[in-house]
Amino acid sequence: MARTALVTGASSGIGREIAKELDKRGFRLILAARRADRLEELAAQLNDTRVITCDLSREDECRRLYDEVKNEKVTVLVNNAGFGKLGRFEQIPLEDELRMIDTNVRAVHILTKLFLRDLIEEDRGYILNVASSAGLMPGGPLMAAYYATKAYVTSLTSSIYEELKMADSRVKISALCPGPVDTEFNRVANADFGVKAITPEYCAKCGVEGMFAGKLIIIPERGLDIASKAAQLAPRRMILAVTGQLQSAKKKEDNDASL
Ligand SMILES: NC(=O)c1ccc[n+]([C@@H]2O[C@H](COP(=O)([O-])OP(=O)(O)OC[C@H]3O[C@@H](n4cnc5c(N)ncnc54)[C@H](OP(=O)(O)O)[C@@H]3O)[C@@H](O)[C@H]2O)c1
Repeated sequence: MARTALVTGASSGIGREIAKELDKRGFRLILAARRADRLEELAAQLNDTRVITCDLSREDECRRLYDEVKNEKVTVLVNNAGFGKLGRFEQIPLEDELRMIDTNVRAVHILTKLFLRDLIEEDRGYILNVASSAGLMPGGPLMAAYYATKAYVTSLTSSIYEELKMADSRVKISALCPGPVDTEFNRVANADFGVKAITPEYCAKCGVEGMFAGKLIIIPERGLDIASKAAQLAPRRMILAVTGQLQSAKKKEDNDASL
C-alpha cells in the first residue's frame, strides 16, 4: 500500500507544489483547504488522492480533519496552510489577526499534537511545518502578528525535534523557513515583495528533500541561510530596524499610506 501524506493549504502556492512533489515520490495524497474546486483540479492531476474541504481556523474543523483520516496511516503531515497581513499593528483588524493566529498557530499546534502521537506509536513518519524566515527573526515591524505566529511555529518545531531525539524516536519534524516565494501570499497579505522571490516549485522541492533528510530548519535560499545566521549575532534593535525597512518596501500602492 502506498504511503499517505496529508498536505494542508494544498489549493495554492507552496502546499500545491509540495503535494505534487510527494506525488512524484509515490505518496498517496490527502489534500486539505477551503477551496474545493482548486483541490479537485489538483487531485485530477495526481495519482491517488483524496480531497477534504475544511476551514483550519476552526478547532472543530482541525479535529474533523484528523478524525476523517486517522485510520489511513498518514506517515507525512505537512502543516502548510497560513497567511499574513501587512500593516501597522493598530490598524490591522483584530478579527483578521485572530483568524491568522487560529490558522498559523492553533491549527499547526492541534494537528501536530494529534498526528505526532500516532507517528510516535508507529515509530516512523515526518512532520513538515511551513514556517517562514519571519520565524527566525526577533520581530517583524508592519507584519507583527504574522512574524509572531511563525516564531511560534519554529520554536514549537525545534522543541519537539529535540524531544524526539532525546527519545531515540525515528519520527522526524522540520520547519521550512523560506523568504519570499511567488504565490498568492501577497494578494492575501495586500503586499508587494520588494525583493526577488523564489518559485513555489523550488521551495517545495527543498522542503521535501530537507524533511526526508531530517533537517530541523530548512532554508531554501543559500543567501538567506547565511543572513539569518548572521542576524543571530547582530543587536536585536538593529535587526528590527532593517526588517521594518524591508517590510515598508512591501507596501502596495493601495495599502495604507502611513506604512
Ligand atoms: N509566499 C511566501 O513568501 C511565504 C514565505 C514564507 C512562508 N510562507 C508560508 O507558506 C505557507 C503557504 O503560503 P503560500 O505562500 O503558498 O500562500 P498561498 O498561495 O496564499 O496559499 C495559502 C494556502 O493556505 C490555505 N489556507 C489559508 N487559510 C486557510 C484556512 N483557514 N483553512 C484551510 N486552509 C487555509 C489556502 O487555501 P484556501 O484559501 O483554499 O483555504 C492556500 O492553499 C503559509 O503558511 C505561509 O505563511 C509563505
